Amino acid sequence: MRFCLNVDHIATLRNARGEVQPDPVTFALMAEQFGVDGIVVHLREDRRHINERDVRLLRELITTKLDLEMAAIDEIIDIACDIQPELATIVPERRQELTTEGGINVIDNIRQIKNAINRLHDAGIAVSLFVEPDINQIDAAAQINADYIEVHTGNYARAIGEEELFDELERVRVAAKHAKKLGLGVNAGHGLNYINMKEFVAITEIDEVSIGHSVIARALFVGLEQAIKEMRDLAKRK
Ligand code: PXP
Repeated sequence: MRFCLNVDHIATLRNARGEVQPDPVTFALMAEQFGVDGIVVHLREDRRHINERDVRLLRELITTKLDLEMAAIDEIIDIACDIQPELATIVPERRQELTTEGGINVIDNIRQIKNAINRLHDAGIAVSLFVEPDINQIDAAAQINADYIEVHTGNYARAIGEEELFDELERVRVAAKHAKKLGLGVNAGHGLNYINMKEFVAITEIDEVSIGHSVIARALFVGLEQAIKEMRDLAKRK
C-alpha cells in the first residue's frame, strides 16, 4: 500500500505566526527523502493553511507525486489546471468545518462534479473523488469517469469496540472491492493512525493511503524520519 503524506498541518503551524516557518514545502521535501510515496495538500478556498505559493513550489520541487485536494469550484479548478498535480482529489468543503468531515455527495452534485472532472481531464489531470464507503456513490463516481475514489475512513477511525470496528472495516472493504471491479483506482484516508492501520492494511484493494494528522503529531515526539519509517512499515504488506 502506498503512503502519501498530507502536510497541511505544517502550514497551519506556520500561519499561526503569520511568518515563514515551519515551511510545508521544506517539510515535504524532507518527507520525500524519508520515503513517502507522495505529497498531499488541500488548497482551501479560505487558504487557512496551504496557499498558492506552497502548491506552486511543491509542483516545482517534489519528485514523487502531488495530490491536490480541492473543492469543485472554478477558482480552484483554474489553479489546478495551471499547476498540473498528478492527481486532483475532489472533496466537499465547508468554511465552518475544522477538517473535511466526510465524503462528497456525488449523486446530489453530479453536474458540478462532472464538469470539474471534464475540465481537469481536459488539462490532463487524473481525478479522484473523496467518497463515503457507499456503493451508490461509487457507481456515480464511475459513471462520470472519475479515475480513482478515495474512501473516507473517518467512521472506521472513530469506531469503538470490536464489533463496530469490524463493521466499519467491512464497509470499507466492500466499497474498495466494488470500486476495483468498476476499474477505479482506490485510495483511502482520514483518521488513519499507527493503531488502526494494523488491520486496515489487510484490505488489498486499496492502492494508497493519504495520512496527515497522526504522522505529523508523531513526528513531534520521534522526529519526521522515524514517524515516516514507522508508517511505511505499517503500510507494507507482509
Ligand atoms: N484525505 C482527505 C480527503 C482529507 O481531507 C484528509 C484530511 O486533510 C486526509 C485524507 C488526511 O486525514 P488525517 O489528517 O486525519 O490523516
